[in-house]
Amino acid sequence: MMRGMRSLFPHHTWTPVTEGESGADVFRLTGAGPTLYAKTGPEVPEETERLRWLTGTGIPVPAIVASDERWLVTEAVEGVPADDAPEALADLARALHALPAATCPFDRRLDTTTDEARRRVRDGLVRLDDLEEEYTGWSGERLLAELERTRPVVEDLVVCHGDLCPDNVLVDPRTGRVSGVIDVGRLGVADRHADLALVLRELTGGRGWRFLEAYGAGRVDEERLAYYVLLDEFF
Ligand SMILES: Nc1ncnc2c1ncn2[C@@H]1O[C@H](COP(=O)(O)OP(=O)(O)OP(=O)(O)O)[C@@H](O)[C@H]1O
Ligand SMILES: [Mg+2]
Repeated sequence: MMRGMRSLFPHHTWTPVTEGESGADVFRLTGAGPTLYAKTGPEVPEETERLRWLTGTGIPVPAIVASDERWLVTEAVEGVPADDAPEALADLARALHALPAATCPFDRRLDTTTDEARRRVRDGLVRLDDLEEEYTGWSGERLLAELERTRPVVEDLVVCHGDLCPDNVLVDPRTGRVSGVIDVGRLGVADRHADLALVLRELTGGRGWRFLEAYGAGRVDEERLAYYVLLDEFF
């Protein structure tokens, strides 16, 4: 498989990119025209479908250069991770959350994601050695029990990115605007707190407040934020 995609880009230098933690393998392809990124792994088809869907929405995403069942090759998005650009991140979150959810074919509502969480515990896919401090040492069963106990009764449904960490949003340092959103394999209709929780988990100090102010702080529920941090432990 790997050979297959490599043979389509034989003149590029393939350099592994190691930042990711999903178990996907990502390579940077340079030295022959525009820089490209090649990603492989079992979840690539889901990501490709979502990237295709996003392409028509006005949300900036990388162009697809090639894809098959195992590989997704995209054009490089210029820019730097959005860690220090909370207002740009907020604009992006607002734009995404304003898309008409009824037109989004991907479902990440709690019935779906909690089923998947249970399946991932059963299959041993949850990284129990890499939990947030408050869950350190917890078993999969204990995490699941807590997930059930704290499940919100309401879901404020919007189109969510699903892994809205600042390093999945790139910003043009000259303009301060979002140049592209990547890593969209978990995009789908979900409670907006699913995205807000992951952004706010990473944006420490004043950056979290700046994000919330730009996003619209009135809409945030602390209990749901905590719940969606817990839910993310399973993925
Ligand atoms: N099209 C692109 N343009 C610019 N950078 C990219 C692009 N695709 C991937 N990258 C770089 O490669 C890194 C890893 O890619 P990606 O986020 O898609 O996978 P991942 O981090 O392994 O997945 P996960 O976040 O689920 O663990 C990104 O953080 C980014 O630095
Ligand atoms: Mg990523």
